[in-house]
Amino acid sequence: MKKIGVLTGGGDCPGLNAVIRAVVKRALDTYNLQVLGIREGWAGLVKGRVEPLTYFSISGILPRGGTILGTSRTNPLKSEETLQRVLNTIKKFGIDGLVVIGGEDTLGVAGRLHEMGIPVVGVPKTIDNDLPCTDYTFGFDTAVSIVTEAIDRLHTTAESHHRVMVIEVMGRHTGWIATIAGIAGGADCILIPEIPFKIDAVAAMIKRRCERGKTFSIIVVAEGVEFGAADGQVVQDEKTDEFGHALLGGVGIVIGKKIQELTGMETRVTNLGYIQRGGTPTAFDRVLATRFGVKAVDLLARKEYGKMVCLRGNSVESVDLQEVTSSSKTINPELYGVAELFFG
Ligand code: F6P
Repeated sequence: MKKIGVLTGGGDCPGLNAVIRAVVKRALDTYNLQVLGIREGWAGLVKGRVEPLTYFSISGILPRGGTILGTSRTNPLKSEETLQRVLNTIKKFGIDGLVVIGGEDTLGVAGRLHEMGIPVVGVPKTIDNDLPCTDYTFGFDTAVSIVTEAIDRLHTTAESHHRVMVIEVMGRHTGWIATIAGIAGGADCILIPEIPFKIDAVAAMIKRRCERGKTFSIIVVAEGVEFGAADGQVVQDEKTDEFGHALLGGVGIVIGKKIQELTGMETRVTNLGYIQRGGTPTAFDRVLATRFGVKAVDLLARKEYGKMVCLRGNSVESVDLQEVTSSSKTINPELYGVAELFFG
């Protein structure tokens, strides 16, 4: 093996640059491998947009949010032609192994390419923390810190105005950010996709709080809860991306209106949106991302292809990509039970 490629796909996430830095450093220092950066996720392989990464390229990027390589939601498996272009680029640039940093969609493509004989290794990325087979994905801790700080800030204004504050956070399939930041921020109710809820019960709980003298409430809602038309998710746009996902967002407003109607209490809604994904990673995410990047190159060097690096306890290990892409990692009831203890 002489040359490896690295790409970042899907939504950006704090810690991507830390992984890229670790991949380049490990490859150059330990294995004397050249590293090619692939621009804009899978689009870079489709379009042949590839450039060498050096020590200079990674200088100063550890604390930077986003990804120096750019990213996209391009699905190279959408046609025979795009797949062929990917294979041509890999051949043309002599890429002997690929580090693919992404979430469910990006890693799903990596798994398919592995089945076609392309040497790939995956690195789990998503602020949603919903990838199975790893205790944590990098980016999640940063998102949780941002949301927790926001809840703290919203708490004081909610209290001053005797209002209900609905805070919508990311979480397409699962409520990891909502649950963990909700516990950390002392939320009075947390609504997540995994646990069905009755809005009447939420309103009744808010009223009971009020009767007890708690004249404000903090309700954290994951964007993926089903409270839209025909009991589906609330989408901003019906149009889907190349992996079939609609852009979620707005369920907080729908829930907020209903709560105001049912309780008669003034209700305000904040959607934290992309603030959760932008900016500098926490120390935890920098370290996790760095360990993942180092391990990914080790796997390629040892020809352990078709794997994803993962965190189990405090140990960085690996798992078959096939295992990863079949399901989402949902909140366990014990954890939600801890959050629930503080509701109302
Ligand atoms: O996958 C992470 C995520 O943050 C989801 O929670 C969210 O639905 C999605 O990305 C939105 O990303 P984009 O608008 O970039 O497609």
